[in-house]
Amino acid sequence: SSGDEGKSGKSYTVATDNNFVPFEFLNEDTGEMEGFDMDLIRAVADEAGFEVEIESMKFDGVVAGMQSGRYDIGIAGMTITEERAETIDFSEPYYDAGLTIAVQESNSDIKSEDDLAGKKVGTRSGTTSEQYLKENHPDAEVVTFPGIVEAYMDLQAGRVDAVMYDVPNVKYYVNNDAKGELKTVGETLQGEQYGIAFPKDSELVDPANEALQTLIDNGTYDDIYEEWFGE
Ligand code: ARG
Repeated sequence: SSGDEGKSGKSYTVATDNNFVPFEFLNEDTGEMEGFDMDLIRAVADEAGFEVEIESMKFDGVVAGMQSGRYDIGIAGMTITEERAETIDFSEPYYDAGLTIAVQESNSDIKSEDDLAGKKVGTRSGTTSEQYLKENHPDAEVVTFPGIVEAYMDLQAGRVDAVMYDVPNVKYYVNNDAKGELKTVGETLQGEQYGIAFPKDSELVDPANEALQTLIDNGTYDDIYEEWFGE
C-alpha cells in the first residue's frame, strides 16, 4: 500500500499505537501524534528520503497491520520477539526497555514480582507483559485491558492490585499522570528491545537501518532521546 511518488520521494503509511506515553500519543491541541517514536520515524524518513503518513490505532492493529501488509511501517514500542519475527521484519533495535510493576503509592504488600500470587494484575492484551504473566505467574489473576490507561485507572481506583507493563511507559505515567498516587516496585523483569516493524521482506528494512545508524552517529538520535527521556 505504498503511496504516491512525490518530488520529495515516496510516501509510506506508518501504523502506530494511539496511546503509549512517551513514545506515541495524541497532542489534543495540534491534533498531531507526538512522542519519541514519532520523532524517530520522521527523522528516519527524512534521512532515507521518503515521506510518512501516520495512522494511529490499537497496538494489536499495528501487529496485525504488519502481518497483513496493510501498512508499510509500524512503530509502537514494539518488542522484537522471536515469535513476531516469524511473521514480521524488524529493524535493528532502537530502544532498550523491559517490564516492571506499578502499585498504589500506599501499597506495602507488593514489593516485587514475588508477591503477585493471588493478586489482580492488570496489563494490556497482546503484549509481552501479558505473555510474561501467563508464563511466570500462573497464580496471579491477570486482567487484560484493551488500552493501558484503563489499567492504570483501575489501579488508581483499587480495582486491580498491580499493573505490569513496559518500564519507560510505567515510569513516565507514574512520574507525570499519576504523580504521588502510583509507584514502581522491584527490578526490571525482562530485558526487551524495540524495533521498527515491517511486513515480511519489505524493501524498507535496509534503508531504515542505514538511516537509523546515521541518526545514531550524527547525534540526532541522542537529541530525540534527550527530549523525551532527559531529566
Ligand atoms: N513492548 C510491548 C510489546 O511489544 C508493549 C508495547 C505496547 N506498545 C504500545 N504502543 N501500546 O508487546
